[in-house]
Amino acid sequence: MVPHWIIEKKRDGAELSEKELRFFINGYTTGDIPDYQMSAMAMAIYFQGMSLDETASLTQVMMHSGDVVDTSSLAIPTVDKHSTGGVGDKVSLILAPLAACCGVAVPMISGRGLGITGGTLDKLESIPGYRTNLSELEFIEVLRTCGCSIIGQTETLAPADKKLYALRDVTATVPSIPLIVASIMSKKLAEGIDSLVLDVKWGKGAFMKSKDDAHELARTLVEVGRRMGKRMGALITDMNQPLGKTAGNALEVIEAVECLSGRGPDDLMEVTMALSANMLLLSGCCETHVDALDMLHRKIESGEALDRFRKMVSLQGGDVSAVDDYERFAQASIVQDVLAPEGGYIGGVDANHIGRACGVLGAGRQKTDDVIDVAVGISNLAKVGDRVNQGDVIATLHANHDEALKAAMEHLVCAFSITEKDEGAIPLIDKSIL
Ligand code: URA
Repeated sequence: MVPHWIIEKKRDGAELSEKELRFFINGYTTGDIPDYQMSAMAMAIYFQGMSLDETASLTQVMMHSGDVVDTSSLAIPTVDKHSTGGVGDKVSLILAPLAACCGVAVPMISGRGLGITGGTLDKLESIPGYRTNLSELEFIEVLRTCGCSIIGQTETLAPADKKLYALRDVTATVPSIPLIVASIMSKKLAEGIDSLVLDVKWGKGAFMKSKDDAHELARTLVEVGRRMGKRMGALITDMNQPLGKTAGNALEVIEAVECLSGRGPDDLMEVTMALSANMLLLSGCCETHVDALDMLHRKIESGEALDRFRKMVSLQGGDVSAVDDYERFAQASIVQDVLAPEGGYIGGVDANHIGRACGVLGAGRQKTDDVIDVAVGISNLAKVGDRVNQGDVIATLHANHDEALKAAMEHLVCAFSITEKDEGAIPLIDKSIL
């Protein structure tokens, strides 16, 4: 096969076979096909799109460019959740131990934050000692002992995606549905899961700005997963305002612990419970959504879910006493409230501005090798629809530098809008595909 003939075929809108895709992706992974030919191919896919069959083949080939975790020795259903990312999204930290104590295994391989989107690994690493770089053997051992483990992508997991994603980032080919689907699904399915639930977010703080694009992405992800023999579900959820009341790494872990203790904010619990219930339904642990919710609520009320989180933290080397004593987390040196400039109702909390505020505080990174500050961020975020009086606290900034505090404050002023009438929040869950 000749690489430039395959590029030509895609450029002219024809469908590529699995054999051609395997030749091209494997060649790129080994270095036989250079970056410039892969860039041309990515651009051809960007403009011509791909059929579902092609997207499934591309996913399959990228997934098999490295190892697939062997979870068969666990002998219970394996299920994971993937979110397309947002601001204040700490759902994974709550959902993994919660679902695990209902009888499924959750082998979760997560990513780091980039741009305004936070990353589960960065959040977990704010727990002193927590290791995200377990070997595959250690990963399976933690899963066997406590039913959930959250780690980072290993060198051998979907290496084609690692290389291709970096190339797409600098060749303006990230926003292509087939490339996004193959990228997400190749990594997730390499975890060795039976089922997957997706949280596809739309809005100001999400990767997909429009609800229609989020629906299209969700449908394609679900269809490709099903073609690959997996049980799939998806929720389309709102990310115009941040999820929960905190954004920033240590602050979000503390909020997740509050949720596992039964004291979580309504919006965060609604999304977490809906996604967890879908995981239990797909895995066959419960027959109805009501039964699943019932079981999940009981696991929180009994303290089992929080105990499971403690166990995972401890098995991965983390200081478990931080779960009971939040002062063990790194603390920011400056803590300053943001006050409502007038009375009324919170009409909007722009997740993009909140994400940018976290970025200037040092909680996020612009480049993959930026170092982050886990202590900084925002807490006490008011929610859309809250009634406030002039001078009420609508957010609290946690900073380590005066300059950063000032820059974050400018974003906060733009983030909040206050209205005379309660205009109500956008429904959190737009659609559930199961
Ligand atoms: N997340 C991924 O993992 N890959 C993409 O292409 C986009 C978002």
